Amino acid sequence: MSAIEVKPCGGVGAEVLGVDLAADLTNSEFATVRDAFVEHGLIFFRDQNISPEQHIAFAKRWGDINVNRFFKPVDGYPQIAEVRKEPDQTVNIGGGWHTDHSYDVEPAMGSILVARELPATGGDTMFANMYAAYEALSDGLKETLLGLKAVHSSRHVFGDESQAYRGTDIGDRLGNSKAATQDSVHPVVITHPLSGKKALYVNMGFTLRFDGWTAEESKPLMDYLYTHACQPQFTTTFKWKNGSIAFWDNRATWHYAINDYQGQRRLMHRITLEGCALH
Ligand code: SIN
Repeated sequence: MSAIEVKPCGGVGAEVLGVDLAADLTNSEFATVRDAFVEHGLIFFRDQNISPEQHIAFAKRWGDINVNRFFKPVDGYPQIAEVRKEPDQTVNIGGGWHTDHSYDVEPAMGSILVARELPATGGDTMFANMYAAYEALSDGLKETLLGLKAVHSSRHVFGDESQAYRGTDIGDRLGNSKAATQDSVHPVVITHPLSGKKALYVNMGFTLRFDGWTAEESKPLMDYLYTHACQPQFTTTFKWKNGSIAFWDNRATWHYAINDYQGQRRLMHRITLEGCALH
């Protein structure tokens, strides 16, 4: 019998207890962890001590690794993106509601973030539940959204025309702006490929507009959805500790790295997993 316990957090996510990610999980342990991931869209682990090699090995149990083309990798580990902020830097990576890689034609399935060096205070990550956000909409708005697609892009965040990071001190942490060329179009409400449940799939970071609408026409309804989806009842704030790991499903959640630890260092390692086209 598996000793793994899954404790829902409220809002979104669940903590998975009784598992050591440094060891090879048995098939039955892996199935329990996978079920928790599919059900909650976000799982947390505490008190882990995993090397970069073990981080990669755990990621590979889920599928192929998708190497993020904009993040600087960890030295010696091209599969692992470094999410870092130094004491003298002001801008953090991921400091706004978003979901990773929605700008890709086949957006990344999930991201596994390992805490490597934490500030003494602050540096939490907020998560929001896109299943619950969708479910709480009125039937009329659900029906409208089911008929819509949206355009997503990396150009305004990571490209040469970036408004998010231009003129900031992010430069040594992100790069390859020439690779920010393509836009992608996804349904505004997806049927999640693992759970089969409907989820809202637009995000403040990377969604530009509804497909076939102008940005101006899109803004009021997008803003409504953004305000709606990050209400407290749909969110959790994860307090990182040494040994903490968060694994989120990019198709079921948003996240937001809080930038409230000025003057302190924060270093995280992130592996992103390949996803699929969304319908
Ligand atoms: C990210 O947006 O992937 C980074 C999240 C974090 O640093 O907490």
